[in-house]
Amino acid sequence: MRLKNKISLVTGAAGDIGRATVLRFADEGAFVILSDINASGCEKVLAEVEALGRKGAIITADVIKEDQIISMFDKIKADYKRLDILVNIAGGDYENDASIDGIGYEKMSYNMDVNLKSCMLCCREASKIMMDQVYGKIVNMSSLTWRGSPMQFSYSASKGGVYAFTRSSALALGMFNINVNALAPALIEVEVIKNGMDAETWAALKEDCATRYPMGRVGQPIDVANCALFLASDESSFITGQIIEVSGGARL
Ligand SMILES: NC(=O)c1ccc[n+]([C@@H]2O[C@H](COP(=O)([O-])OP(=O)(O)OC[C@H]3O[C@@H](n4cnc5c(N)ncnc54)[C@H](O)[C@@H]3O)[C@@H](O)[C@H]2O)c1
Repeated sequence: MRLKNKISLVTGAAGDIGRATVLRFADEGAFVILSDINASGCEKVLAEVEALGRKGAIITADVIKEDQIISMFDKIKADYKRLDILVNIAGGDYENDASIDGIGYEKMSYNMDVNLKSCMLCCREASKIMMDQVYGKIVNMSSLTWRGSPMQFSYSASKGGVYAFTRSSALALGMFNINVNALAPALIEVEVIKNGMDAETWAALKEDCATRYPMGRVGQPIDVANCALFLASDESSFITGQIIEVSGGARL
Protein backbone atom coordinates (compact mmCIF):
# COMPACT_ATOMS: atom_id res chain seq x y z
CA MET A 1 0.00 0.00 0.00
CA ARG A 2 1.36 3.36 -1.07
CA LEU A 3 0.01 5.51 1.80
CA LYS A 4 0.01 3.01 4.64
CA ASN A 5 -0.86 4.73 7.95
CA LYS A 6 -0.34 8.22 6.53
CA ILE A 7 -2.46 10.88 8.19
CA SER A 8 -3.98 12.86 5.35
CA LEU A 9 -6.36 15.79 5.10
CA VAL A 10 -8.50 16.29 2.00
CA THR A 11 -10.52 19.49 1.71
CA GLY A 12 -13.48 19.54 -0.64
CA ALA A 13 -13.93 15.90 0.36
CA ALA A 14 -17.67 15.90 -0.32
CA GLY A 15 -17.24 16.93 -3.95
CA ASP A 16 -16.68 14.59 -6.88
CA ILE A 17 -12.91 14.99 -7.18
CA GLY A 18 -12.56 15.12 -3.39
CA ARG A 19 -14.56 11.92 -2.96
CA ALA A 20 -12.50 10.05 -5.56
CA THR A 21 -9.30 11.23 -3.86
CA VAL A 22 -10.48 10.23 -0.39
CA LEU A 23 -11.45 6.75 -1.59
CA ARG A 24 -8.20 6.29 -3.55
CA PHE A 25 -6.13 7.33 -0.52
CA ALA A 26 -8.13 5.12 1.84
CA ASP A 27 -7.69 2.20 -0.52
CA GLU A 28 -3.92 2.74 -0.33
CA GLY A 29 -3.96 2.57 3.47
CA ALA A 30 -4.17 6.24 4.49
CA PHE A 31 -6.18 7.49 7.42
CA VAL A 32 -8.17 10.25 5.73
CA ILE A 33 -9.57 13.33 7.45
CA LEU A 34 -12.42 14.59 5.30
CA SER A 35 -13.12 18.30 5.35
CA ASP A 36 -15.79 20.26 3.53
CA ILE A 37 -18.46 22.85 4.21
CA ASN A 38 -20.93 20.08 3.32
CA ALA A 39 -21.12 17.89 6.44
CA SER A 40 -23.72 15.41 5.15
CA GLY A 41 -21.69 14.94 1.96
CA CYS A 42 -18.64 14.09 4.07
CA GLU A 43 -20.66 11.56 6.07
CA LYS A 44 -21.67 9.77 2.87
CA VAL A 45 -18.06 9.59 1.68
CA LEU A 46 -16.83 8.45 5.10
CA ALA A 47 -19.40 5.63 4.98
CA GLU A 48 -17.82 4.55 1.69
CA VAL A 49 -14.37 4.66 3.32
CA GLU A 50 -15.62 2.45 6.12
CA ALA A 51 -17.21 0.08 3.62
CA LEU A 52 -13.69 -0.45 2.26
CA GLY A 53 -12.65 -1.52 5.76
CA ARG A 54 -10.68 1.69 6.31
CA LYS A 55 -10.91 4.43 8.89
CA GLY A 56 -11.29 8.19 8.63
CA ALA A 57 -12.71 11.23 10.36
CA ILE A 58 -14.59 14.40 9.48
CA ILE A 59 -13.72 17.97 10.39
CA THR A 60 -16.09 20.40 8.74
CA ALA A 61 -14.70 23.82 7.92
CA ASP A 62 -15.53 26.74 5.68
CA VAL A 63 -12.21 27.46 4.03
CA ILE A 64 -13.01 31.10 3.38
CA LYS A 65 -12.90 31.60 7.17
CA GLU A 66 -9.41 31.88 8.64
CA ASP A 67 -10.56 31.01 12.17
CA GLN A 68 -12.18 27.78 10.96
CA ILE A 69 -9.01 26.79 9.13
CA ILE A 70 -6.90 27.44 12.23
CA SER A 71 -9.32 25.42 14.40
CA MET A 72 -9.21 22.52 11.94
CA PHE A 73 -5.43 22.28 12.06
CA ASP A 74 -5.40 22.73 15.85
CA LYS A 75 -7.75 19.77 16.11
CA ILE A 76 -5.62 17.67 13.78
CA LYS A 77 -2.53 18.43 15.86
CA ALA A 78 -4.35 17.63 19.11
CA ASP A 79 -5.98 14.42 17.86
CA TYR A 80 -3.34 12.92 15.58
CA LYS A 81 -0.06 14.68 16.55
CA ARG A 82 1.01 14.82 12.90
CA LEU A 83 -0.15 15.46 9.35
CA ASP A 84 1.62 13.70 6.51
CA ILE A 85 -0.48 14.80 3.53
CA LEU A 86 -2.62 17.82 2.71
CA VAL A 87 -4.70 17.93 -0.47
CA ASN A 88 -6.40 21.28 -1.02
CA ILE A 89 -9.37 20.50 -3.26
CA ALA A 90 -12.14 22.76 -1.91
CA GLY A 91 -13.05 25.44 -4.42
CA GLY A 92 -14.87 26.14 -7.61
CA ASP A 93 -15.73 28.84 -10.11
CA TYR A 94 -18.25 31.34 -8.81
CA GLU A 95 -17.90 33.79 -11.71
CA ASN A 96 -17.80 31.89 -14.99
CA ASP A 97 -20.01 34.13 -17.03
CA ALA A 98 -18.39 37.55 -16.83
CA SER A 99 -17.00 39.55 -19.73
CA ILE A 100 -13.77 41.47 -19.15
CA ASP A 101 -15.72 44.68 -18.60
CA GLY A 102 -18.27 42.93 -16.42
CA ILE A 103 -16.08 41.39 -13.71
CA GLY A 104 -17.96 41.72 -10.43
CA TYR A 105 -16.15 42.72 -7.26
CA GLU A 106 -18.10 40.34 -4.99
CA LYS A 107 -17.78 37.27 -7.20
CA MET A 108 -14.16 38.04 -8.04
CA SER A 109 -13.36 38.35 -4.34
CA TYR A 110 -15.16 35.10 -3.58
CA ASN A 111 -13.15 33.22 -6.21
CA MET A 112 -9.95 34.56 -4.68
CA ASP A 113 -11.08 33.62 -1.17
CA VAL A 114 -12.29 30.11 -1.92
CA ASN A 115 -9.57 29.06 -4.37
CA LEU A 116 -6.41 31.02 -3.58
CA LYS A 117 -6.57 32.38 -0.04
CA SER A 118 -7.96 29.12 1.32
CA CYS A 119 -5.06 27.26 -0.25
CA MET A 120 -2.52 29.72 1.17
CA LEU A 121 -4.00 29.53 4.67
CA CYS A 122 -4.27 25.73 4.71
CA CYS A 123 -0.66 25.47 3.50
CA ARG A 124 0.45 27.94 6.16
CA GLU A 125 -1.17 25.92 8.94
CA ALA A 126 -0.03 22.56 7.54
CA SER A 127 3.54 23.80 7.18
CA LYS A 128 3.71 24.49 10.93
CA ILE A 129 3.03 20.82 11.62
CA MET A 130 5.04 19.45 8.69
CA MET A 131 8.17 21.53 9.32
CA ASP A 132 8.33 20.17 12.88
CA GLN A 133 8.07 16.58 11.67
CA VAL A 134 10.42 17.24 8.71
CA TYR A 135 8.05 15.45 6.37
CA GLY A 136 5.07 16.41 4.31
CA LYS A 137 3.29 16.22 0.97
CA ILE A 138 1.08 19.07 -0.16
CA VAL A 139 -1.05 18.84 -3.29
CA ASN A 140 -2.85 22.00 -4.35
CA MET A 141 -5.72 22.26 -6.82
CA SER A 142 -5.06 24.60 -9.70
CA SER A 143 -6.82 24.24 -13.06
CA LEU A 144 -5.86 24.20 -16.72
CA THR A 145 -7.42 27.66 -16.81
CA TRP A 146 -4.23 28.91 -15.12
CA ARG A 147 -3.06 29.33 -18.73
CA GLY A 148 -5.87 31.82 -19.31
CA SER A 149 -9.54 31.40 -20.08
CA PRO A 150 -12.01 33.86 -21.57
CA MET A 151 -15.11 34.24 -19.38
CA GLN A 152 -13.25 32.81 -16.37
CA PHE A 153 -11.19 35.84 -15.46
CA SER A 154 -11.22 35.67 -11.68
CA TYR A 155 -11.25 31.86 -11.51
CA SER A 156 -8.25 31.50 -13.81
CA ALA A 157 -6.43 34.24 -11.90
CA SER A 158 -7.09 32.46 -8.60
CA LYS A 159 -5.86 29.15 -10.03
CA GLY A 160 -2.80 30.81 -11.56
CA GLY A 161 -2.17 32.21 -8.10
CA VAL A 162 -2.33 28.69 -6.70
CA TYR A 163 0.43 27.66 -9.10
CA ALA A 164 2.62 30.65 -8.17
CA PHE A 165 2.04 30.03 -4.47
CA THR A 166 2.86 26.33 -4.96
CA ARG A 167 6.22 27.25 -6.47
CA SER A 168 7.03 29.72 -3.69
CA SER A 169 6.03 27.19 -1.04
CA ALA A 170 8.16 24.50 -2.66
CA LEU A 171 11.16 26.85 -2.52
CA ALA A 172 10.61 27.49 1.19
CA LEU A 173 9.72 23.97 2.28
CA GLY A 174 12.11 21.73 0.36
CA MET A 175 14.70 21.98 3.13
CA PHE A 176 12.09 20.51 5.49
CA ASN A 177 11.52 17.48 3.27
CA ILE A 178 8.11 18.82 2.25
CA ASN A 179 6.97 18.48 -1.38
CA VAL A 180 4.47 20.99 -2.72
CA ASN A 181 2.86 20.42 -6.12
CA ALA A 182 -0.28 21.40 -7.97
CA LEU A 183 -2.83 19.65 -10.17
CA ALA A 184 -4.28 21.40 -13.20
CA PRO A 185 -7.22 19.44 -14.57
CA ALA A 186 -8.95 20.20 -17.85
CA LEU A 187 -12.69 19.53 -17.93
CA ILE A 188 -13.57 16.78 -15.47
CA GLU A 189 -17.02 15.23 -15.57
CA VAL A 190 -18.56 16.26 -12.24
CA GLU A 191 -22.11 16.79 -11.06
CA VAL A 192 -21.65 20.47 -10.20
CA ILE A 193 -20.81 21.27 -13.83
CA LYS A 194 -23.47 18.98 -15.29
CA ASN A 195 -26.11 20.39 -12.96
CA GLY A 196 -25.25 23.91 -14.06
CA MET A 197 -26.58 23.35 -17.59
CA ASP A 198 -29.20 21.33 -19.44
CA ALA A 199 -28.34 17.86 -20.69
CA GLU A 200 -28.05 18.97 -24.30
CA THR A 201 -25.55 21.74 -23.48
CA TRP A 202 -23.50 19.33 -21.38
CA ALA A 203 -23.43 16.75 -24.19
CA ALA A 204 -22.24 19.42 -26.64
CA LEU A 205 -19.54 20.69 -24.26
CA LYS A 206 -18.31 17.17 -23.56
CA GLU A 207 -18.19 16.34 -27.25
CA ASP A 208 -16.40 19.59 -28.09
CA CYS A 209 -13.73 19.00 -25.43
CA ALA A 210 -13.32 15.33 -26.35
CA THR A 211 -12.65 16.38 -29.93
CA ARG A 212 -10.04 18.93 -28.88
CA TYR A 213 -8.25 16.85 -26.22
CA PRO A 214 -5.66 14.50 -27.77
CA MET A 215 -6.82 11.61 -25.55
CA GLY A 216 -10.27 11.97 -27.12
CA ARG A 217 -12.31 12.27 -23.92
CA VAL A 218 -12.92 14.55 -20.96
CA GLY A 219 -11.51 13.61 -17.57
CA GLN A 220 -13.09 11.64 -14.75
CA PRO A 221 -12.58 12.34 -11.03
CA ILE A 222 -10.47 9.17 -10.74
CA ASP A 223 -7.97 10.60 -13.25
CA VAL A 224 -7.30 13.49 -10.86
CA ALA A 225 -7.33 11.25 -7.78
CA ASN A 226 -4.69 8.96 -9.31
CA CYS A 227 -2.39 11.91 -9.90
CA ALA A 228 -3.01 13.24 -6.38
CA LEU A 229 -2.08 9.80 -5.07
CA PHE A 230 1.24 9.85 -6.91
CA LEU A 231 2.07 13.34 -5.62
CA ALA A 232 1.06 12.37 -2.08
CA SER A 233 3.17 9.22 -2.11
CA ASP A 234 6.91 8.79 -1.61
CA GLU A 235 7.17 7.81 -5.29
CA SER A 236 7.24 11.55 -6.07
CA SER A 237 9.80 12.47 -3.40
CA PHE A 238 12.10 14.32 -5.88
CA ILE A 239 9.28 16.28 -7.50
CA THR A 240 8.34 19.66 -6.06
CA GLY A 241 7.05 23.03 -7.25
CA GLN A 242 5.46 21.45 -10.31
CA ILE A 243 2.07 21.76 -11.91
CA ILE A 244 0.76 18.52 -13.41
CA GLU A 245 -1.84 19.04 -16.09
CA VAL A 246 -4.39 16.25 -15.82
CA SER A 247 -5.79 17.16 -19.16
CA GLY A 248 -5.62 14.40 -21.73
CA GLY A 249 -3.10 16.60 -23.51
CA ALA A 250 -5.41 19.60 -23.84
CA ARG A 251 -3.71 22.83 -24.90
CA LEU A 252 -0.36 21.25 -25.69
N1 LIG B 1 -14.42 19.67 -12.46
C1 LIG B 1 -13.53 20.28 -13.23
O1 LIG B 1 -13.63 20.30 -14.46
C2 LIG B 1 -12.36 20.96 -12.59
C3 LIG B 1 -11.29 21.35 -13.41
C4 LIG B 1 -10.20 21.99 -12.83
C5 LIG B 1 -10.16 22.22 -11.48
N2 LIG B 1 -11.21 21.84 -10.70
C6 LIG B 1 -11.12 22.11 -9.27
O2 LIG B 1 -11.26 20.91 -8.56
C7 LIG B 1 -11.80 21.18 -7.27
C8 LIG B 1 -12.97 20.24 -6.99
O3 LIG B 1 -13.99 20.52 -7.89
P1 LIG B 1 -15.13 19.48 -8.33
O4 LIG B 1 -15.20 19.57 -9.78
O5 LIG B 1 -14.94 18.15 -7.67
O6 LIG B 1 -16.42 20.22 -7.78
P2 LIG B 1 -17.34 19.92 -6.51
O7 LIG B 1 -18.26 21.08 -6.40
O8 LIG B 1 -17.93 18.56 -6.63
O9 LIG B 1 -16.32 19.93 -5.28
C9 LIG B 1 -15.96 21.08 -4.60
C10 LIG B 1 -16.12 20.86 -3.11
O10 LIG B 1 -15.60 22.00 -2.41
C11 LIG B 1 -16.50 22.31 -1.37
N3 LIG B 1 -16.41 23.71 -1.02
C12 LIG B 1 -16.78 24.78 -1.78
N4 LIG B 1 -16.62 25.91 -1.08
C13 LIG B 1 -16.14 25.56 0.14
C14 LIG B 1 -15.81 26.29 1.31
N5 LIG B 1 -15.93 27.61 1.36
N6 LIG B 1 -15.34 25.61 2.38
C15 LIG B 1 -15.22 24.26 2.34
N7 LIG B 1 -15.55 23.51 1.27
C16 LIG B 1 -16.01 24.16 0.18
C17 LIG B 1 -17.88 21.97 -1.93
O11 LIG B 1 -18.82 21.78 -0.88
C18 LIG B 1 -17.59 20.72 -2.72
O12 LIG B 1 -17.80 19.55 -1.94
C19 LIG B 1 -12.14 22.67 -7.26
O13 LIG B 1 -11.10 23.38 -6.62
C20 LIG B 1 -12.20 23.01 -8.73
O14 LIG B 1 -11.93 24.38 -8.96
C21 LIG B 1 -12.30 21.20 -11.22
